[in-house]
Amino acid sequence: MMWVPVTRLESENYETIRPGLLHVRLSLPSVTVWQFGSLRLWSDKLKIDKEFKSLIPPLGREELLQLEENIKQDGCRDPLVVWGDILVDGHNRFDICTRNEIKFKTVSHKFNDRTEAIIWIIDNQFGRRNLADIDRIALARKREEVLRPIAKENLRTPTGGRGLTSAKLPESKPPIDTRKESAKTAGVGERTYDAGKLILDAAASGEISQEVVEEVRRKEKSIHRVAKDIKESRQKSNRDEKRKEAAQAAEQESPQFFDNVHIGDFRLNADKVRDGSVSLIFTDPPYDKKAEELFEGLADFAMNKLAEGGSLVMYLGHLQLRSALNAFDGKLRHWWTCACVHDGGKTLMREYGIRVGWKPMLWFVKGTRHDKQKIISDVVSGATEKTHHDWQQDQSEAEYWIESLCPVDGIVCDTFLGGGTTAAAAMKLRRKWVGFEIDHDQAVIAMARCKQ
Ligand SMILES: C[S@@+](CC[C@H](N)C(=O)[O-])C[C@H]1O[C@@H](n2cnc3c(N)ncnc32)[C@H](O)[C@@H]1O
Repeated sequence: MMWVPVTRLESENYETIRPGLLHVRLSLPSVTVWQFGSLRLWSDKLKIDKEFKSLIPPLGREELLQLEENIKQDGCRDPLVVWGDILVDGHNRFDICTRNEIKFKTVSHKFNDRTEAIIWIIDNQFGRRNLADIDRIALARKREEVLRPIAKENLRTPTGGRGLTSAKLPESKPPIDTRKESAKTAGVGERTYDAGKLILDAAASGEISQEVVEEVRRKEKSIHRVAKDIKESRQKSNRDEKRKEAAQAAEQESPQFFDNVHIGDFRLNADKVRDGSVSLIFTDPPYDKKAEELFEGLADFAMNKLAEGGSLVMYLGHLQLRSALNAFDGKLRHWWTCACVHDGGKTLMREYGIRVGWKPMLWFVKGTRHDKQKIISDVVSGATEKTHHDWQQDQSEAEYWIESLCPVDGIVCDTFLGGGTTAAAAMKLRRKWVGFEIDHDQAVIAMARCKQ
């Protein structure tokens, strides 16, 4: 295919290249305008610089439709800005105009170098209405990245970095606290700025999908929520990795030591524990709705395995309270409802509009308590620990209940062993113990923990 130069325009005028199709203003003497058989080829000539384009946050679907509607109705009123033959402002309008064969004008802007052009494009975007916070953060960050080497140079060289670029820099020394400055540029708080950066990095590395960023952009998810999810998921993979290592190490050990860990469903392995032999069942069933099906089995297990006067203490979610109480009804006596107060941050349950600061612990007794002179506190609290299980409980809580409700020669049982917190506490307090865990890898991890 041949590209044919049709004219060289050096005036400030707008000239029609293809009548009724495009108006082009050529203010730079060096620009040659080419006419081609198709509009697309022409638009190839007005260069779209990938980096420049990437600086421009996408318009929302509605905004884009509205813009297209307006341009179709009133024409492209504002000129697109070009630097030589590179488009620097008006990418969406350019796209709409070329697709719909609508005339547009261009105005030329002079930059001394790319950096100056980039800063101009970024600053220009900040003037946009309805720009989402995440996009403002991305722009501020890019601005910071572009200016950083120049700012450094400013500090270093007696020439104040001259020669690197002529991008407009702050007159005085560059800001010491770039985070603060960038957050201010983005128009958000510093914490939001950090959270936004985390999201943008995670999206760039493929850790989260672009769809999540879109959800943030559309305000369907908050920046802080998504950043928290990313952090939690990173912590989880970290823990998973450590656990895997622990499980592998434990697999090498002699299994005899772990005769008291039964891998499988506690209901199917109930015969591994002698009826009436257990002083305390201290346990922590899963918190999902499905887990409620386990409560009946747990109540039967406890009724059979507990010694007379023995206790069952279980953690559970607020929403599981009713079904747990129903399941134990007529089997064990509900002795008390205790509170386990979270020492870390509170969890916001938006669907209920509650900031949760504690979880219930139900205490059931077989028959009645014989040692009422031993006073129990109904509020416990402990630290957050997740090394051995995602839902790991604090060992000091287990220790408190074991010390209080299991005599030194008694047996502690955990039907949902998880990371082995109950076992570790029992071992520390020199109580005999037995545990059930349905997940093989998890059971191995619990064993490894007890071996330590
Ligand atoms: C909430 S976690 C226990 C966490 C434990 N308290 C800790 O500190 O690590 C519940 C555990 O019960 C296990 N589990 C679920 N259903 C079970 C069943 N029917 N029998 C035995 N274990 C089960 C799960 O695999 C999970 O590891």
